[in-house]
Amino acid sequence: MSCIDALEDECSGGCCCVNENLSDYDKLEGAYGAVQDNWGDRDVFHGGYINLGYWKDFSPNKPISIGDRIKSARDLYIYILDLLQPTTRDRVLELGCGRGMGIADAVLRYGIREFIGLDALPAQVARARRNVSTNMALDGAKIELLAAPANATGQPDHSVDKVFSVEVMQHFNQFSLLAIELKRILKRGGRAVLTAHLSTTSNSVQSMMRENLLFGEGLIDVFCPIGDVVSAFEACGFYTTSHSIGAKVFNGFGQWLEQEHLDNVIGLNLCKSYKKGYIDYFVVTVNSRE
Ligand SMILES: C[S@@+](CC[C@H](N)C(=O)[O-])C[C@H]1O[C@@H](n2cnc3c(N)ncnc32)[C@H](O)[C@@H]1O
Repeated sequence: MSCIDALEDECSGGCCCVNENLSDYDKLEGAYGAVQDNWGDRDVFHGGYINLGYWKDFSPNKPISIGDRIKSARDLYIYILDLLQPTTRDRVLELGCGRGMGIADAVLRYGIREFIGLDALPAQVARARRNVSTNMALDGAKIELLAAPANATGQPDHSVDKVFSVEVMQHFNQFSLLAIELKRILKRGGRAVLTAHLSTTSNSVQSMMRENLLFGEGLIDVFCPIGDVVSAFEACGFYTTSHSIGAKVFNGFGQWLEQEHLDNVIGLNLCKSYKKGYIDYFVVTVNSRE
């Protein structure tokens, strides 16, 4: 199947749960907030990160501090960046940078000299710009911040060495479009590493719907099945692998919700859906064939 044939494919069994008559952009802006930051300031997250976290030091008997919660969110970035292996010479693009907290993690840890942080929402980009401009350790690095969707990055053809994203692709339902865009912008030998919660099978969303696990204010996750995601990249000629990190994500995140008595319906439903095997937290690694 060619990239263009793949365009016809929708992800099977994914869902768009709220306000079917709004555009995807309006749903996204409604969820994350144009004026106030609807997610980044909630107690479920901390430190400006908006992700469930990678709890590598998690122990069920140890209380979780706010510092631990922030570390888990940063460790998710570090886990992905270690797989991406950016070098100082690479031009690196982050899709869905949110408030831009991962930019310092990437640029300072790997000495990246040219970094592009992209988010579909101008309000998120403005928040990222504030965070980047007040971090003096980042002075001297070339950091460009852009408001654009992941499947239309505006980057020149074959101009990017490495692409990554953290907890963004749960919102995508047309991976063929993303695959085509990555094919266009990645250099020969380029790589992308993407992580998020996705469906384990094409029946998952129906099961979650039946069991009332798909509700909550601001829920705009589509939960595309992992098999469809891998197929979309393979159809564009990428060598693609995926693996689960769900155990390192949901156990710690679930414990954090419980310990803090956080009545976060979406988060609680994600943990239940993971335990029932409907979703998992996946890492998708996409390599161009040289
Ligand atoms: C859950 S937040 C994660 C933010 C950040 N990666 C982090 O871990 O803190 C998801 C982000 O992806 C952005 N986003 C969602 N869909 C997008 C798309 N199609 N293109 C670019 N950004 C998108 C949202 O605006 C939001 O800032």
